[in-house]
Amino acid sequence: KKIEDQILVIFGASGDLTARKLIPALFNLYRAKQLPKNFVVLGASRSDMSDEEFRDKVLLKSSYLNGNGAEIDEKLLHDFSQRFFYEDLGGTYDTEYSKLRKRVESLKKSFNTSGNIIYYLSTPPTLYETVARRLSESGMNTQNNGWKRLIVEKPFGYSLETAKKLNQGLQKYFTEPQIYRIDHYLGKETVQNLLVTRFSNSIFEPLWNRNYIKHVEITNAESVGVEKRGGYYDKSGALRDMFQNHLLQIVSLVVMEPPIGNHPEEIRNEKVKALKSLRIMRDEQTLFDNTIRAQYVASEVKGEEVKGYRQEDGVDPSSTTETFAAIKFYVDNWRWHGVPFYVRTAKRMPTKVTEIVIHFKTPHHQIFMDSGVNSKDNKLIVRIQPDEGILVKFGVKVPGQGFKVERANLDFYYSSLSETYVMDAYERLLLDAMQGDATLYARADEVEAAWEFVDPILDYWKNGKDVRMYGYAAGVWGPENADDLIDDNGFWRNPGE
Ligand code: BG6
Repeated sequence: KKIEDQILVIFGASGDLTARKLIPALFNLYRAKQLPKNFVVLGASRSDMSDEEFRDKVLLKSSYLNGNGAEIDEKLLHDFSQRFFYEDLGGTYDTEYSKLRKRVESLKKSFNTSGNIIYYLSTPPTLYETVARRLSESGMNTQNNGWKRLIVEKPFGYSLETAKKLNQGLQKYFTEPQIYRIDHYLGKETVQNLLVTRFSNSIFEPLWNRNYIKHVEITNAESVGVEKRGGYYDKSGALRDMFQNHLLQIVSLVVMEPPIGNHPEEIRNEKVKALKSLRIMRDEQTLFDNTIRAQYVASEVKGEEVKGYRQEDGVDPSSTTETFAAIKFYVDNWRWHGVPFYVRTAKRMPTKVTEIVIHFKTPHHQIFMDSGVNSKDNKLIVRIQPDEGILVKFGVKVPGQGFKVERANLDFYYSSLSETYVMDAYERLLLDAMQGDATLYARADEVEAAWEFVDPILDYWKNGKDVRMYGYAAGVWGPENADDLIDDNGFWRNPGE
């Protein structure tokens, strides 16, 4: 795809995300010669820094550049740094942007970038609308000499109401096609591959429905705790931090109907339809029966003392914010009627892993039952991360007399496609926005539909009568009670066990 000359303006340029994610992604794109010929980055934030200090901080002295495993070429890095500039917004983002505008104009001239600009909002979310308004007031959102795009980081809203407000706020100054809401899970190859697995393989799609699927399970686990983000996390929790966005995005790709083509709007229309078909749980009993939350407690992991969530810096010692969330729900449409979905996400699990497990129904008539193991439990496991790949579990006959059935694996690893360079999620998403492809960005109605499902759960957890908060030791797969969610005395599949 064609990539036009452009300027990338990053608001919140002295922040953690810029250093950790955006700059390494840009450097890798530069090394891979994917960036446009005439391209500069203008960082803007509230710190007082010169261009040189900015270059030093985010690039030259960065500890986050990974070079994708290759040695970092210092000359290349230095050359790239010459395209980085910085503008101090004078203590607040709510200020006149005339200086910023002049800087953009002068960079445009000296680097011949034409008038195309991406504004990347990586500020605290309370400032998103302010920045959009200030850009508009100084005429920096007009598209008459080059396009303007706005990338918005998560969290996108705190609830349905705030998400709607934010959508309306941004749409006052930018049109919906100009707004790119980032969800870095959509930048992951394995997440995108869900579309290909389903819609380009006739061995899967015909089975992808209530006739053949018993239930769907999604696990997202991290071994880390809240790290240095206690302050942020305590106001957020697992449901807002991971489930409303990343996990419901995965759910929408598992649930959606085939789009008629791969145009961004066709795919996003189907995703919205999928999210709107999630059965919203409203009464307390349903919420009690189908949701579980928990917090990690102080414990010893591999001989080391690990703090409990409530003892973490920035966390209220009597906090009721969940670090573990497990939700069972149904999808009210033709394809999924009656199929339970089980989704859980947590910090301080035994390992970092995200996987989707499609559990197939047992064959209607089983003729090998008397052999002990039977052919039930066909599973398709999509490993989102790590060990990205796909695993199919199926029954085979054990050699010898009789019909003893054993489970075997068909296992595909992405790493076996070793010549293919797998882009990091941020590389892929930045490149897409630079090319004007919004397929992997969330549309306003998508984000709102996801909040619509999550809001009543959050409300119940906050105000409900019989809400429980379980504890779990760091390094285990959450509270045992989480198995109670699974029908037929089933239990969660713990990856690697
Ligand atoms: C972020 C959350 O969106 O995703 C973090 O705020 C979480 O809490 C992270 O750690 C997980 O991303 P990944 O790509 O490492 O699975």
